[in-house]
Amino acid sequence: MLPPPRQDRVESYRAHVNPYRVEGFEALGWTEELVEARGSFLVDASGRRFLDMSGCFGAVALGHHSRDLDAALSALLASGRPCTMPFGIPADVGALAGRLCALAGADLQKVYFGNSGAEGIEAAMKLAMIRTGRAAFISFEGSYHGLTLGALGLMGGGPWRGPLEHAPRLGRLAPFGDLAAVERLLEEGGVAAVVVEVVQGVGGARAWSGDALDALERLCRRHGALLILDEVLTGLGRTGAWFAFQGVAPGLRPDIVVTSKGLTGGVIPLSAVLMTDDVFHAAYGPKGHVNIHGSTFSANAMAVAAGLCTLDVIAREGLVERAAVLGERLASGLRRLQDEEIAVCDVRGRGLLLGVGIAGVEQPDDALGALAFCQALRERGVIVTVAAHAPSYLKLTPPLTISEAEVDLFLDRLREVMLELVEVDDAEER
Ligand SMILES: Cc1ncc(COP(=O)(O)O)c(C=O)c1O
Repeated sequence: MLPPPRQDRVESYRAHVNPYRVEGFEALGWTEELVEARGSFLVDASGRRFLDMSGCFGAVALGHHSRDLDAALSALLASGRPCTMPFGIPADVGALAGRLCALAGADLQKVYFGNSGAEGIEAAMKLAMIRTGRAAFISFEGSYHGLTLGALGLMGGGPWRGPLEHAPRLGRLAPFGDLAAVERLLEEGGVAAVVVEVVQGVGGARAWSGDALDALERLCRRHGALLILDEVLTGLGRTGAWFAFQGVAPGLRPDIVVTSKGLTGGVIPLSAVLMTDDVFHAAYGPKGHVNIHGSTFSANAMAVAAGLCTLDVIAREGLVERAAVLGERLASGLRRLQDEEIAVCDVRGRGLLLGVGIAGVEQPDDALGALAFCQALRERGVIVTVAAHAPSYLKLTPPLTISEAEVDLFLDRLREVMLELVEVDDAEER
């Protein structure tokens, strides 16, 4: 007979999900259960409150438990309408797609809905391969596009590909922002698309200039490759524009734009792959291709309801403009800390996607390392993460609803940590 499943939260996770993850959190002392989430704060089982400067890696656009989102999802469940629709034309899917296309502009006219950022990227890759009849991609060092097999081939750093070095890789890597390298890789031939994050997230909020993006598009056109923008993180207000490319290169005409994280306020998995009619018809148009790409849960009613509600709230509350204003407040506070020339050595990014460079990370156990900052901030009631592909950077992606007072609270805590860790470092040197 099988032993009964373990009931305890940590032990069942250790036994049946991932013991190494448990070990990692235990080493950091982060095993207390988070039991409540409201606005910009998380609360653990002992009642400690944490200011959430990560927002679940940028997904929690409206803050935790937005009243509007909770109400929209409760109303759908109470309505008795079907949540997954295998047959017929479902309600609201066209409306959400239409609104996304109108917001993105350019020539984007059709939308495929997937279930995660990686799945969206995967779909974009397939579509580009079908449209061009080619199979290679160009991506950039520092990039992160997800962990499914296709997306993994675009990966620009980190340990993710380690066990798969023997697997075919569709991507060719160019140094970040290096247009000459892109041209050389395009000249090798066979490139279906260049895939680019307008502001890298996992790369530590490294941003492309508008001019460079325009030049990238021209290179793509010259070589018959498509331009795919990965706006999984940057889409829907995060950088102070509905889509990040609009803020810096309003004339850009991407062939495909993928967005996800904030689209449902972070509560239901959903990605949207926006594409031109040209791409759409090449993929779905040929006889027998009407279902050439899809998924059981594509555009499920919960996700679509959350998506429509999120767009309403972002528009009604002016959260796009707010991300620009609050992002500037946060960035200028961070630059003031940088001026003190203690530990903070760089501030970069756009809107509410910011990277904070921490000096001294070369030695992993250096008290000035970004990870040491994360740990010390957590002890002071603030959650931040390190940018995995730029590990000397803290990555800030708070809810777009963060208040001025919460931004200032974060800056105060960061300054305290900065001074504390410098003291530790000085003491260790003596
Ligand atoms: C820019 C970007 N693209 C793609 C992904 C993958 O999204 P997901 O984790 O939903 O698969 C991420 C996730 O962090 C991301 O930041």
